[in-house]
Amino acid sequence: KEQTYIMVKPDGVQRGLVGEIIARFEKRGFKLVAMKLVHATPEHLEKHYADLKGKPFFPGLIKYMASGPVVGMVWEGLDAVKTGRAMLGATNPLASSPGTIRGDYALAVGRNICHGSDAVESAKKEIALWFPEGIIQYTNTNEGWIFE
Ligand code: GTP
Ligand code: MG
Repeated sequence: KEQTYIMVKPDGVQRGLVGEIIARFEKRGFKLVAMKLVHATPEHLEKHYADLKGKPFFPGLIKYMASGPVVGMVWEGLDAVKTGRAMLGATNPLASSPGTIRGDYALAVGRNICHGSDAVESAKKEIALWFPEGIIQYTNTNEGWIFE
């Protein structure tokens, strides 16, 4: 099954939204296969957001992401990357539909509380970057009630 890297950003942690975000992925039927609280360095975050280097908002983005701990997670399930992005909502919370995480809890693009991988390839890179030790393999006994 597909895996995606989901991260609660420093504003999401500070605002007490970690549990809410985890709950949504759990309830949807995704399986948690890795999770950790990390205060990331600017160097690490520059690798994570390497594709955005050169954008005018890049220095501010790195400063924001390094301003406090983040919760990094790997969630596994059907179409995890695309579904994860749909659950997060649009990059700019003002454009995110109500019912999405950003659409329910955020207003500003530079404080949009969560990250989700945008493609299967980037998910693989991000999982390797944040979890070099690997993910956890286990059986979820509920699987027969989530998948045919
Ligand atoms: P992530 O899940 O965090 O990767 O967001 P995304 O994939 O929806 O958007 P993208 O990768 O293009 O941008 C990464 C992050 O940079 C966004 O989530 C925003 O926090 C920030 N960002 C993107 N565009 C802008 C912008 O125009 N202004 C500001 N201030 N921040 C931006
Ligand atoms: Mg992105």
